[in-house]
Amino acid sequence: MKTRQTIIKTMITLISAFALAALMMQMSSCGGTDGKKAASEIDSTKGLKDFYKDYFLIGVAVGPYNLEGEQAEMIKKHFNSLTAENVMKPGPIHPEENRYAWENPDKIVEFAEANGLKVRGHTLCWHNQTAPWMFKDAEGNQVSKEVALARLKDHITTVVSRYKGKINAWDVLNEAVEDSDTTKIYRETMWYKICGEEYISKVFQWAHEADPDAMLVYNDYNTENPSKRDRIYTMLKKLLDQGVPVHAVGLQGHWNISDPTEKNLRDAIEKFTSLGLKIQVTELDVSIYGSRADTVGIGFTPEREQKQIDLYKMAFDVFRENKDDMTSVTFWNVSDLHSWRDRRNMKVYPLLFDENLKPKKVFWEVVKF
Ligand code: GLA
Repeated sequence: MKTRQTIIKTMITLISAFALAALMMQMSSCGGTDGKKAASEIDSTKGLKDFYKDYFLIGVAVGPYNLEGEQAEMIKKHFNSLTAENVMKPGPIHPEENRYAWENPDKIVEFAEANGLKVRGHTLCWHNQTAPWMFKDAEGNQVSKEVALARLKDHITTVVSRYKGKINAWDVLNEAVEDSDTTKIYRETMWYKICGEEYISKVFQWAHEADPDAMLVYNDYNTENPSKRDRIYTMLKKLLDQGVPVHAVGLQGHWNISDPTEKNLRDAIEKFTSLGLKIQVTELDVSIYGSRADTVGIGFTPEREQKQIDLYKMAFDVFRENKDDMTSVTFWNVSDLHSWRDRRNMKVYPLLFDENLKPKKVFWEVVKF
């Protein structure tokens, strides 16, 4: 009797052990203990955009030179939104009063249409990369407010109308808020000096008239810095209270391995979305250097690589958590082969793909969730 009981007990123990082992195997094939996928089960045939298909668009800033050969294939695999890095900026697209340079921007829009990508327009009003003629008369004197506003209206109406229905979001206004002086809201740009505050609401109104379906974005850097964030908030609140059609804030995302903090990123998203605005991350790149002075251990060292991974992982965790308010995340350039942030003789390796267009370790960490 005793022996029979012992046999039954042993059998029960064995069956439970088998069941437990099977359960553990199943759990490990579903992912790690933190609920994230194990590296071995990430599907390398999928592009970045596929991992994020239930979250937000994944974009990249390009020039026409990126849209050929291996880079074109890589863009098609990983991205579903394009931004023109330079060729739609006011200066390049409208170099003279009576001449628009459509060829390069058209190439980007045509590539996107042919391959099913969306396009973000960048940018309609900015103080940089704007041709000097905009602010001068035939004698070289500064134009009046009326003339400046009329030119700006003509520029915005012409550009937005040309791509109506083809560009789903426009960076209407770039970097119009003061960086550090807490007594001011607006940056003293040529537009502000000539037109005062008025141009700010007008640019959104004109863009909206030209394409009522486009998402209109205010785009800036250091949006996570509490003091600048609050100035931007003040400007946007005022615009919204006046009924101006602003729909989203563009966090440029020119970050580095020590900035922004998770708290500042979360607080900025919370503050802007409290106004009912959407968020787009418009120019993401994360330098492996913390500041201009931080060049100790020059190069893509394992320590810097790990810090970059940590920053990117933190950021994408926050982005995914905010997916209901976040409509796109765009990288500024395709790979570490070329980035506007590289300095003379010093690369800063800010993207997810290396100089040979291959995914870096950080890529696999960003798609592991
Ligand atoms: C800003 C602009 C971008 C780009 C970068 C780098 O972020 O919005 O278009 O020019 O500066 O110059």
